[in-house]
Amino acid sequence: MVRKQRDVPQQPRRSRFPALAVAAVLLSACIQDSPLDSLDPQGPFAQTIDNLFWVTFWIATGIFVLVQGGILLAVFLFREKPDSKEPRQIHGNTRLEVAWTVIPALILAGIAVPTVRTVFDLTECGAGAMPIEVIGHQWWFEYRYPESGVISANVLVIPAGQEVCLTMTSNDVIHNYWIPKLNGKRYLVPGEETLLRLQADEPGEYWGQCGEFCGLSHAMMRARVNALAPAEFEAWTAAQLEPALEPEEGSPAARGKEVFLGQACIGCHNISDVNPLDTATVEIYGPDLTHFASRNVFAGATLDNTPENVAVWLANPPAVKPGSYMPNLGLSQSDIDDLIAYLESLR
Ligand code: CUA
Repeated sequence: MVRKQRDVPQQPRRSRFPALAVAAVLLSACIQDSPLDSLDPQGPFAQTIDNLFWVTFWIATGIFVLVQGGILLAVFLFREKPDSKEPRQIHGNTRLEVAWTVIPALILAGIAVPTVRTVFDLTECGAGAMPIEVIGHQWWFEYRYPESGVISANVLVIPAGQEVCLTMTSNDVIHNYWIPKLNGKRYLVPGEETLLRLQADEPGEYWGQCGEFCGLSHAMMRARVNALAPAEFEAWTAAQLEPALEPEEGSPAARGKEVFLGQACIGCHNISDVNPLDTATVEIYGPDLTHFASRNVFAGATLDNTPENVAVWLANPPAVKPGSYMPNLGLSQSDIDDLIAYLESLR
């Protein structure tokens, strides 16, 4: 079929997409302060992976340059010239074929040594690592500290400069725990236990993301690790073990507590001494709220813990996290205001 004249101007628009894609990839390298940067290790386990990555990367880069250089050289040196005769026809070259089979095999064997060593290094926790249990839920991470009895959610608080040993499982489907600056990814599998070593060298906040598609709000299943100086971590643990703060009588927070106790909240959320919930007997439950206000993010670590954001969440959770098991409770504005007062008092 003959192309019509008016089709022609569309050509440049179609060719714009690859150019934009290349530009996006190149520009992404310029991003500063990227919290999920896996090339910015902040602890020994992420560092061992990083070391392995760069060794492999430079070997691969060397091979790329040699192979592509060889191809370009052949193209230019042996290209057809006006007075070229037909080249000598050959088939097979045993010495060359042995060489290009043996050399890659040796390179792979060479890379396998540090790779296998790194894999085994990361498979078992070190002696004296602090155990923490991680439970995946659609769509949030729960944390339990078996040594102290603390139970928390969304924000994993750890002592800086010390190894923690995560024992991980899932309450529903397969999830994947990934804090890029502290270690690689590891699956959370229902009915199985997997293990992940984490250590942050310095106090600070490290971002994470569920790394396995786990349903509608997979993208909203994020994580934060908050590494504290050891003394601060001790203080945090002691504070977490306290029962929930009792609101002052007649205050908005006290009214919020009544709203909490009168609504469906009590079916899913534990608040110690207020609504003790045996999570072993309920199939689906939400984050422990005893110290809700001590966490800087909520809703799968997607929202900063501010009164404005809590208001948005309480008004319609599935609008924030599609598929959320917390339904729209149809709360009145005054109930929402009182609940915010109560939740934000739970330090
Ligand atoms: Cu959990 Cu994706």
